[in-house]
Amino acid sequence: MVLIDGKATANQIKNEIAEEVKAITSKGERAPHLAAVLVGNDGASLTYVGSKVRSCEKVGFDSSLIRLPEETTEQELLAKIEELNQDETLDGYIVQLPLPKHIDEEKVLLAIDPKKDVDGFHPSNFGRMALELETFIPATPFGIMQLIERYDIDTQGKHVVVIGRSHIVGRPISILMSQKGAYGNATVTVAHSRTKDLKALTQQADIIVSALGIPGFVTADMVKEGVVIIDVGITRVEDASKEKGYYITGDVDFDSVAQKASYITPVPGGVGPMTIAMLLKNTLLARKWNA
Ligand code: GUN
Repeated sequence: MVLIDGKATANQIKNEIAEEVKAITSKGERAPHLAAVLVGNDGASLTYVGSKVRSCEKVGFDSSLIRLPEETTEQELLAKIEELNQDETLDGYIVQLPLPKHIDEEKVLLAIDPKKDVDGFHPSNFGRMALELETFIPATPFGIMQLIERYDIDTQGKHVVVIGRSHIVGRPISILMSQKGAYGNATVTVAHSRTKDLKALTQQADIIVSALGIPGFVTADMVKEGVVIIDVGITRVEDASKEKGYYITGDVDFDSVAQKASYITPVPGGVGPMTIAMLLKNTLLARKWNA
């Protein structure tokens, strides 16, 4: 069994990005600049955004954290987005989700200039991805594809079962893995809450991508010998014995499933660290494409 080390791979990618930043700044050009907009005080969002900003510093990017109060109106947020769209010193930005309930997420994502949409959430970028045109691929599926590539996992003609059909993970990864190419050409089944007899599907799967958010959902009896497991679940489970008051766990019952798997991503330390690395990669691409 090979334990897929997302942390090490993410660090490797960050080092590659840092080298490219040095090459840019040594020519006297400005460093890539990423901004993150955070509305409100959601704990998990604060952690993620803080981590994104720190990673920018690590690779030599400029970064801006724009914090807006929970009461920010949709109109105020849209005005800020327009300002960011016009800001020529900014290569890309993200609006951290989820947004407060009084703000229409779809409207906000549509307002982001697709050229600066390093999350790849704008419908035009999602469409470009589906049509195999050059675009920003959302960070989590992009990170999964990088792990598959860098671990040289064979996907040709393999049966991939994706559990979950979210716009951020399940749907895009199902598209990417079925596309033509060295790490595509898979036959993909997308399973979700209405799927009948999921176990019969997962038992046939060569590769399982679980993006559900239910701890311990994938158990050893659901998988075959030699399966490749990509666990995208990140759930905070309250635990008073931990320093932070919680621990992070994935969708997969790791200890039992690992015994049957040929490759497996741990949680934490698997897909999670890759997402930030790929966001940085997209920002570097934005810098190049918009130059
Ligand atoms: N919330 C959870 N994941 C993400 C992400 O990748 N991007 C943004 N903007 N918000 C998120």
